[in-house]
Amino acid sequence: MDLGSEAVHIDVFTLFPPWFDWFRGQRHVVNAMALGSSVEAVDYRAHTPLKAGQVDDTPFGGGAGMVLRVDVVEAALRARYGEDPVGLREHRRVIALTPGGRLLDDALASELADEPALTLLCGRYEGFDERILEHFVSDQVSIGRYVLAGGELAAMVVMDTVLRKLPGVLGDDSSAREESFSEALEGAPEYPHYTRPAQWRGWTVPEVLLSGHHARVDEWRREQSRRRAGGPLP
Ligand SMILES: C[S@@+](CC[C@H](N)C(=O)[O-])C[C@H]1O[C@@H](n2cnc3c(N)ncnc32)[C@H](O)[C@@H]1O
Repeated sequence: MDLGSEAVHIDVFTLFPPWFDWFRGQRHVVNAMALGSSVEAVDYRAHTPLKAGQVDDTPFGGGAGMVLRVDVVEAALRARYGEDPVGLREHRRVIALTPGGRLLDDALASELADEPALTLLCGRYEGFDERILEHFVSDQVSIGRYVLAGGELAAMVVMDTVLRKLPGVLGDDSSAREESFSEALEGAPEYPHYTRPAQWRGWTVPEVLLSGHHARVDEWRREQSRRRAGGPLP
């Protein structure tokens, strides 16, 4: 079993804090917050030392797009945590969402769910000034080898998979314990599920699932899961 700690306090640094209002309204997120977790969106612009809410600048060396400035990110982190962000990552996971980062998988989600607190930094435009990644962050995480317009959706994906691992969040903790890629299923995809009606257009449900024989059902599920580990589903 690998459920996370009791609660996780997550700060997401973003240029679009209202995006996270929708996320906070989702049932499992509401449950997580009721059980002591928190999700707070922090606006990079709120503490920018630059005029007119500027947060980015043109890249040295030329090229398209704008780059999120290191002084702006430092000011936002200092305002939030009251310390030099160079030291922050020594005692708190500070995660930049980047396309080339460590790929998010179930093992990483479990690892993050064991942390008491997380900081997620969303990039925009061309991304982060490299010094942010070098000096302020403990991890870089990617949700896949493709490029999104910004880190906000990636942050929501990370938070979704982390929060649903916390005890009590899903109502029935076994939902998160035995599912695709979990230790309980030895990292394999989950077995198939069926519900009523038992017959539909001649499509039947495997007999064993209707047998009421729990040990046989369990054995069948594990076998199906192992079979699915053999290759991708169509
Ligand atoms: C348009 S992207 C920047 C892409 C960057 N120029 C590159 O080629 O790698 C803007 C921001 O979106 C976020 N982002 C985009 N794709 C992502 C992914 N697959 N996983 C995590 N974050 C992603 C990052 O925060 C990134 O800084």
